[in-house]
Amino acid sequence: MSQSYETILLERRDRVAIITINRPDKRNALNIKTREEGAALLEELRSDESVGVVVITGAGEKAFIAGADIAEFAGRTALTQRSVMVARSLFNAIDTFPKPIIAMINGYCLGGGCEVALACDIRIASENASFGQPEINLGIIPGGGGTQRLTRLVGEGKAMEMILTGEIIDAQTAFSIGLVNHVVPMDQLEAKTMQIASRIAEKGPISVSLAKEAIKIASRANLDEGLRREVDLFALCFASEDKDEGVNAFLEKRKPLFKGK
Ligand code: COA
Repeated sequence: MSQSYETILLERRDRVAIITINRPDKRNALNIKTREEGAALLEELRSDESVGVVVITGAGEKAFIAGADIAEFAGRTALTQRSVMVARSLFNAIDTFPKPIIAMINGYCLGGGCEVALACDIRIASENASFGQPEINLGIIPGGGGTQRLTRLVGEGKAMEMILTGEIIDAQTAFSIGLVNHVVPMDQLEAKTMQIASRIAEKGPISVSLAKEAIKIASRANLDEGLRREVDLFALCFASEDKDEGVNAFLEKRKPLFKGK
C-alpha cells in the first residue's frame, strides 16, 4: 500500500509503475518536496515485487520537468544547497534503482529535469520535447549529474556546448546526438513508452536487474574490470530458477514463465 504524496502521482499498469511529477502550473519544477517524495516512492518500489519497470514523466503537455525550482535558490547558502543535493538526491535514487527506469519526456526537459532524464536508463521523447542545461544563465552549473552523465552519453564536445551556452535543443537534435532513444509524435508517446516498458517487464526480473547493473559498470570502470564483473554477473544468473526456466522453455519450444527467483 503506497503512502500518499503531494507532488507526485503513482499509477500501476500490470508490472509497470508510472511516476508523474505533478506540478504542471510550475512546469513540474523540482522543489525539495518533490525530490523527497520521488526518492521515498522509489525506495518503496525498490522491494515491490509486483513492479518490474518504472516510467517517470511530467504532468500536462508542456513540461517533463523544467528544472530545479529556481524560487528555492533565492537566499540559499552554499551549505544548505549542498545538503539539499546530497541528503535528498532524487538523482542518486534513480541512478541506484535496481530495476529499469524509463523517462517519458513530454515537453520542457531542462536543468534538473534533463538530469533526471539522464539518470534514467532509457529516454523516449515526444516531438515537442526540448532539452537543455540552462544553469549557466543563472550563474550556476548543473549539480545533479549533468556535467558527468551528459558527457558520458553524448561526448565531451556536445556536452560542453550545451552546458556552456545553455542553449535549448529540440527533440530531433537530442535524438541526433544520442541524448534520447526515440522521438515520436505527442499522441504516440505513451504507447511507445509502454510498449518498451512492457516488453522489459515480461523478462525475468533477475536477469533484467543484473543486465542493468552490468551495463552501468561500463561508464564507471575500465574495460578489464567491467569485463571481469560482467562474467561474475553472468555466472550469477546460473544461481536463479529463472535461468533454468528460460533454458528449458527454449529447449521445450514454449514461452518461459519467469518468477524472479
Ligand atoms: N523553477 C521555478 N518555477 C518555474 C520553473 C523553475 N525551473 N520553470 C517554470 N516555472 C514557473 C514559472 O515561474 C511560472 O510560474 P508563475 O505562473 O507563478 O509565474 C510557471 O512555472 C509557468 O512558467 P512560464 O515561464 O510562464 O511558462 P512558459 O511555458 O512560457 O515557459 C519555460 C516555460 C520552462 C521555458 C520557462 O518557465 C523557463 O525558462 N523556466 C526555467 C528553466 C530553467 O532555467 N531551468 C533550470 C533551472 S536550474
